Amino acid sequence: MQELAIRRPDDWHLHLRDGDVLRGVIGDTSRHFARAIVMPNLVPPVVTSADAAAYRERILAAIPAGDRFEPLMTLYLTEGTDPDDVEAGYRSGLVKAVKLYPAGATTNSHSGVRDITKAMPVLERMAEIGMPLCVHGEVTTPEVDIFDREAVFIETVLDPLRRRLPDLRITMEHVTTKDGVDYIKEHAANLAGSITTHHLIINRNAILVGGVKPHYYCLPVAKRESHRLALREAAVSGDVRFFLGTDSAPHVDPLKECACGCAGIYTSLNTMSCLAHVFEEEGALDRLEAFTSLNGPAWYGLPANEETITLRKGREPVRYPTKIETEAGLITVFDPMFPLYWAVA
Ligand code: NCD
Ligand code: ZN
Repeated sequence: MQELAIRRPDDWHLHLRDGDVLRGVIGDTSRHFARAIVMPNLVPPVVTSADAAAYRERILAAIPAGDRFEPLMTLYLTEGTDPDDVEAGYRSGLVKAVKLYPAGATTNSHSGVRDITKAMPVLERMAEIGMPLCVHGEVTTPEVDIFDREAVFIETVLDPLRRRLPDLRITMEHVTTKDGVDYIKEHAANLAGSITTHHLIINRNAILVGGVKPHYYCLPVAKRESHRLALREAAVSGDVRFFLGTDSAPHVDPLKECACGCAGIYTSLNTMSCLAHVFEEEGALDRLEAFTSLNGPAWYGLPANEETITLRKGREPVRYPTKIETEAGLITVFDPMFPLYWAVA
């Protein structure tokens, strides 16, 4: 039996949804995680501080009794977002970041930004007050191959934006390419990146080899193996600019297993087991805490959690359910395709 105690982790990119799905999934996060940056891509999206306050109340009401969990709220950036409302939400402590979805980039992103110049007044205000912008870093122009969307975004959107507003603090969320990792490493100021659990484990073969596997389909889509290896290296490096954002994104099975399935992988249940496995494989268990519990709070200007959790490695594989049941239907749990021996005690 091996044991590892780390500070309680936080999830810096999480989809909790609403209603029955929210109630069905939140316990899988609040069991292990103290806080999470909650994505605003509901239908309709969380656009104003008032929307965020109301959503936060619904989340708090859904937390299982006995769990202590703090949802960190975000606003969905639109071309009509009001800078004063954003600033008021940030100053009150309610809103921690604004999320940029390029229109059409992913699930429920149709109200996203088409023309970033229209969002400049908000972005300028955020730069002034030090409020972070979380970006879904993919272009949506139809000419760009889906596997190149992140690299092209860096070149045509992110880099110009950083030059125009060098004081804006940007989280490049769910980095999936070596290009993304390298860009973050080369540009120290006001830039950080989150990495998901599943992108450390799967490459694009998981989605396509031996049949179409919808439960490995997410956005940004998993890339080729060399990119996965670059992500692993960044995650286990201890570099303060990289931290965990699971992007756990629940969809009920019928919405995944159909002719036009939704993007999203549900990893909240077994994320810490998967990460301990990955970090052990990389000989970096001593840096797991930096990735899950220290680097994220430092970037978001919050204290690290005082409480700890203990991970234990058993002799027998941990048995996780393949699906969780919610009032909205079954949700398939991420299968890393290898046995997991580590679990949160
Ligand atoms: C997310 C979702 O389902 O909301 N899907 C995903 O594949 N990650 C949206 C997103 O974060 O891109
Ligand atoms: Zn996401």
